[in-house]
Amino acid sequence: MRYAYGYYKKAADYIKERIGEEVQFGLILGSSLGGLAEKIKDPVVIDYKEIPNFLLSTVESHAGKLIVGNLGEKRVICMSGRFHHYEGYEFERLAIPIRVFRLLGVETLILTNAAGAINRDMAPGDIMLINDHIKLQGQSPVRGQNIPEFGPRFFDVSDMYTRDLRDLAKRVGEKESIELKEGVYFYASGPQFETPAEIRAMRILGGDAVGMSTVTEAITAAHCGIKVLGISLISNMAAGITGDPVTTQEVNEVGEKSEEKVERLIKQIIKEI
Ligand code: HPA
Repeated sequence: MRYAYGYYKKAADYIKERIGEEVQFGLILGSSLGGLAEKIKDPVVIDYKEIPNFLLSTVESHAGKLIVGNLGEKRVICMSGRFHHYEGYEFERLAIPIRVFRLLGVETLILTNAAGAINRDMAPGDIMLINDHIKLQGQSPVRGQNIPEFGPRFFDVSDMYTRDLRDLAKRVGEKESIELKEGVYFYASGPQFETPAEIRAMRILGGDAVGMSTVTEAITAAHCGIKVLGISLISNMAAGITGDPVTTQEVNEVGEKSEEKVERLIKQIIKEI
């Protein structure tokens, strides 16, 4: 079988040998939010290309490194640079990093991304806690023969973006005077941004923000019993809302401007978990 248990274990065993002890907290950083990786103290840095059976990042604004070290007084494993379906990876392959994290001991996973606001009450620079997602395109990352070591064939995803973690994030937000919105992340497979008509449809269906990542990771995490906190940085209004085109430049600029706020939030959340 293509991705049997041993496939993931080989990658995890290699990393384990490099990092020593297990690590409980996972962190995956979105476009232009990678700066937090540099704040990790006493890091062990592993290039993705050194890890057997791992994937390689192809997006310029995403680094391709695994960093293990201390953040918010906890030991964390961080992917600086994530993988997306639009890069050409099949959905099943997108399960790999998360399953490897699980084998390394990860129990809590924080996922960040940049997203376009569908909801007109949101604006660039806002932070949205993901309380649910809609993914109507493409397959599940955990399709194929089930691997019971990770989880059951059928599994519940009604609390995938764990309420406890969202509540904790809200408490931290209040303490740090960081305003947090909350809403539904609508997955779009990209790489093209959406059409205005698609955005109108997504709004009718209940989406608040749109993006091209995160959901495959959250689904895989839910399957193997990892708690997830999803944080979207609103980097632009989605297509058709302002009449201006959506640009990568805008996404990156808002990312750079708001990075400090997002970093402070995450660091404090990890401290208080
Ligand atoms: N659409 C999809 N993905 C995105 C967007 C968007 O408007 N902004 C940032 N990532």
